[in-house]
Amino acid sequence: MRSVLIVGNWKMNKTASEAAIFVRELKERLPLPSATVELVVAPPFTALESVRIALGASSPIQLGAQDMFWEDHGAYTGEVSAPMLKDLGCRYVILGHSERRALFGEQSDSIQKKIRAALKHGLRPILCIGESLAQRDNGSTDDVLTQQLHESLSGLTGEAMAGVTIAYEPIWAIGTGKSATTEQAVAAHRTIRRVLGATASPAIADRTRILYGGSVTPQNIESLLVSDQVDGALIGGACLQVESFATIATVASAARPIGV
Ligand code: 13P
Repeated sequence: MRSVLIVGNWKMNKTASEAAIFVRELKERLPLPSATVELVVAPPFTALESVRIALGASSPIQLGAQDMFWEDHGAYTGEVSAPMLKDLGCRYVILGHSERRALFGEQSDSIQKKIRAALKHGLRPILCIGESLAQRDNGSTDDVLTQQLHESLSGLTGEAMAGVTIAYEPIWAIGTGKSATTEQAVAAHRTIRRVLGATASPAIADRTRILYGGSVTPQNIESLLVSDQVDGALIGGACLQVESFATIATVASAARPIGV
């Protein structure tokens, strides 16, 4: 059974000091650790260390980063590598977010290199894919998702692919308050699982967690998790307040009884 994964992508929000205060409050507000839900916070690079310290050694909340470069070290001004993130206690790294694709020119070939580097160093990549509104309107959502998966995952072994989490984030739903409906999310997740099944194997596709992201709130998380196709959420705006992130975590903890 795939356990639910809830990831808070803080984007470019919170200083290191604000982050530490936030995490201390969050820890007090969170439900007891649950066997069926895994929680991750992905602060900016500058706050990773203060969040790690605030979380403490045996925290059930895991640490994630929002991006990384594929080389281990060298003359790459401004970049951060997988070994650096590992050393700070990161378990996950978000890769290929649509904001990085749109604002920073990120392309599939670099995303593919980043995925390989992350896996090589024992980081779990969360690969973001999703269609624009124009692509949805002209009926090419499935083609876009298929192409993004192929370009980003090509050449990986099945076992390597099993280490990748996919986040379906329709661009039109990000930061707009207009979430995909459960039906739209489920349809996209089915497409993604079908493509994974064809490129890796049905068993790998079955093991892969597929998250939904785009205007997830405490109000809509329950309906999104109703389907067993939706294995969790990648959350932007609603992860920045303790109350809303803790509420989402609580609802998610109750969404999948053990053994279902
Ligand atoms: P919002 O939840 O603010 O729509 O952002 C989603 C997102 O981009 C998470 O990576």
